[in-house]
Amino acid sequence: MQNKGTGTLETDRLILRRFRLEDAEQMFKNWASDGRVTEFLTWPSHGDVEVTKAVVGSWVKNYSDMAYYNWVIELKSAKEIIGNISVIKLDEKIEAAEIGYCMGTNWWGQSIMPEALKEVIAYLFDEVGLNRVEASHDSNNPKSGRVMEKAGMKQEGILRETGLNRHGIYYDKVWYSILRNER
Ligand SMILES: CC(C)(COP(=O)(O)OP(=O)(O)OC[C@H]1O[C@@H](n2cnc3c(N)ncnc32)[C@H](O)[C@@H]1OP(=O)(O)O)[C@@H](O)C(=O)NCCC(=O)NCCS
Repeated sequence: MQNKGTGTLETDRLILRRFRLEDAEQMFKNWASDGRVTEFLTWPSHGDVEVTKAVVGSWVKNYSDMAYYNWVIELKSAKEIIGNISVIKLDEKIEAAEIGYCMGTNWWGQSIMPEALKEVIAYLFDEVGLNRVEASHDSNNPKSGRVMEKAGMKQEGILRETGLNRHGIYYDKVWYSILRNER
């Protein structure tokens, strides 16, 4: 494998690109301020755009690191940013990445995240040269599992009470993966 950083990717409906500082306002409005989006995420929804600005500022600084993969999802038709997909853990020894994603509720139910995830998987296998891409979701959030299935990932199993949500409650993690030779 060879790390390539967050390269710009394109699908039929989407551009996946690096965040810019000026994205913070739309990110706040379109998904980061919405508790429905963050219900199963590790971070609480942002109460103030200043929080989003600080987060985006810290992400932008990371792009010089070629092992950092974090895309904003831009809808071509509306020229609007609607969500985020990123590598949340990279294990270079076994050439594996774990993916996380989220998107504003206005765009749910149109198979947009599966489209983004498929493209990210292709990039990580074909350009970066990884062998495995994995992701997990809270068992109470099966719609995320549907995203993984639609992107060609297979369910591997459920690890009971291996997650702790931000309310201090354990949850079961459902794990999915795809291997390079399965595409
Ligand atoms: C999970 C998420 C990324 C799905 O993205 P998406 O582009 O809407 O995915 P899809 O259109 O393929 O829909 C996936 C499933 O969501 C459910 N769904 C669709 N529209 C929905 C809606 N408006 N409201 C609630 N659930 C909906 C359906 O069960 C669907 O499965 P189906 O296609 O078999 O009917 C999105 O809901 C999201 O950002 N949620 C909040 C963040 C999150 O949970 N991230 C994952 C953490 S592991």
